[in-house]
Amino acid sequence: MKQPDPLVLKKLTKKYGAKTAVDEVSFSIKPGEVFGLLGPNGAGKTTIISTIMTLQNASSGSVEVFGVNPEIKPRVAKALIGYVPQELVHHGFFNVEQVLDYHAQYFGIRKKASDISYLLHKLDLYVHRKKMVNQLSGGMKRRLMIAKALIHEPKLLLLDEPSAGVDLELRNSLWEFIHELKNKNISILLTTHYLEEAEQLCDRIGILQHGRLRRVDKVDTLLEQHSSKRISLMLKTPKTSFSHDLLESTDAFNLHFRVPPKMGIQELLAKIAIPYDEVLNLQVQPGTLEDVMENILNSEEK
Ligand SMILES: Nc1ncnc2c1ncn2[C@@H]1O[C@H](COP(=O)(O)OP(=O)(O)OP(=O)(O)O)[C@@H](O)[C@H]1O
Ligand SMILES: [Mg+2]
Repeated sequence: MKQPDPLVLKKLTKKYGAKTAVDEVSFSIKPGEVFGLLGPNGAGKTTIISTIMTLQNASSGSVEVFGVNPEIKPRVAKALIGYVPQELVHHGFFNVEQVLDYHAQYFGIRKKASDISYLLHKLDLYVHRKKMVNQLSGGMKRRLMIAKALIHEPKLLLLDEPSAGVDLELRNSLWEFIHELKNKNISILLTTHYLEEAEQLCDRIGILQHGRLRRVDKVDTLLEQHSSKRISLMLKTPKTSFSHDLLESTDAFNLHFRVPPKMGIQELLAKIAIPYDEVLNLQVQPGTLEDVMENILNSEEK
């Protein structure tokens, strides 16, 4: 029999009075998939995650976690989910190790010290393990929340802006760790405003705007369809009066082109009728998710 998917949302809708924060959102996540929810502030990302966690009740539509409806069986669903909220939660006067130990006990698990120290190492918290939570920096607190979310070995991880406030070096080690979790077949729903993070980590991305899911696709497909490559050419003899549809701008020595993501240098040179031996130097910048977001968010809603 086919196993149910880790997460299935069907026409999920959340209204706050007259405001529709989440508007008929449907998508599902496969085992071992990292799914990124992107969108501007207020798009509805946190509301979707809060509804999965039953911190908010859906106005209509449904959520299933491995075939379980969290509103009907909250304990079963929550044992399958690891949740890292966007807002940091305070843990009073416990130290880092105690928070993890108590959280495991909440799920009725006695964790081995080695399991806890594994997570502490992976999240670069080991040296801080005896510190009280209120002595941690913002980035350390966020990493502690991730460790805490993983303590009961969930199969689905909901990460609401996991790397907000985490410095560059630790962000890289966090990304490596997320890859490791994915390789263990853990499915991940993450929200982020760091488009590089989404590009590095996500298999598929959903773009949310005003509560509506505008697009869901693989990262490569989105880049192919909605981004452009930038090619800059420095010519041996500057061309002062050059014009072409693909030309974005020019300065004293350079011609800057914006071309489809798959167009190569040869093809561009052929199109603009400039021979290769007139080129002194060139620079190529591949398309980015920033282009994709800009294109989709600024396009008319269908
Ligand atoms: N408890 C609430 N009561 C009323 N409106 C709310 C409540 N929580 C969220 N909203 C509204 O719902 C919309 C979606 O908010 P949400 O927090 O889901 O956005 P988000 O995509 O997570 O944004 P951000 O990127 O800033 O985290 C916003 O317009 C917000 O003002
Ligand atoms: Mg949010």
